[in-house]
Amino acid sequence: MYIDFHTHILPELDDGASDIEMSLAMLSCAENCGAETVVFTPHVSSGADFHEFIKKRKKRADSVKRAIKKEWFPCPEILLGAEVSLDGSLAERDGVSALCVEGTDLLLLELPYTSWNSWYNNEIYNLVSKHNVTPVMAHIERYLKSPKDIAKLSTLVSFGVKFQVNAGSFMSFRGRGIIRALAAEGLISAIGSDCHNMSGRSPDISKAIRAFNRKFGDEFIDYLYHKSQHLIESHRVK
Ligand SMILES: [Fe+2]
Repeated sequence: MYIDFHTHILPELDDGASDIEMSLAMLSCAENCGAETVVFTPHVSSGADFHEFIKKRKKRADSVKRAIKKEWFPCPEILLGAEVSLDGSLAERDGVSALCVEGTDLLLLELPYTSWNSWYNNEIYNLVSKHNVTPVMAHIERYLKSPKDIAKLSTLVSFGVKFQVNAGSFMSFRGRGIIRALAAEGLISAIGSDCHNMSGRSPDISKAIRAFNRKFGDEFIDYLYHKSQHLIESHRVK
């Protein structure tokens, strides 16, 4: 069992599912792979109209939920969220906390470049202090060149920032090394499929789970599941 913390399952909202049939196929796939919960995290840019985004997201989520009900479709629990792109102006915007994962103060953040930049620390500090959110850095392994780069995360760790990894990255040599190092430091709080469709980027993370289990033992996925569950539960807001 696991919580898929990063997905693009909602239809016609970003570069994820193209229609509701694909959304249902993706949810079914996640269910079959053992996902207990999926967080819908469509992309939203820091300059977007957040109010409009939230309205559209609700409309799409409602239509997916209606289709699930109509077909008596077994599927994981759904939480609404967003994958918010970070730039130098996000902290200045109003309404950022409305993009957090439903019922929590957890904000999934995507960095703009694939290598680490020193301004991230300041911007994320401003975000935390002005908006009372807990950033969860999406696919953090993408921004680190080698396991040694994990040291660059220490400032963010001191701000209470959490880290999500893409399960699929574990299938590459570089990704595996970084994820192992992150796991050894206890820095992984959530995993995600970052699924966009049913072909190249599907919600099926079963291969990655088998690879995790081979490397770390069967209990590792359970450990991650409890960690993600704890992440959500301990960040509930009223
Ligand atoms: Fe994503």
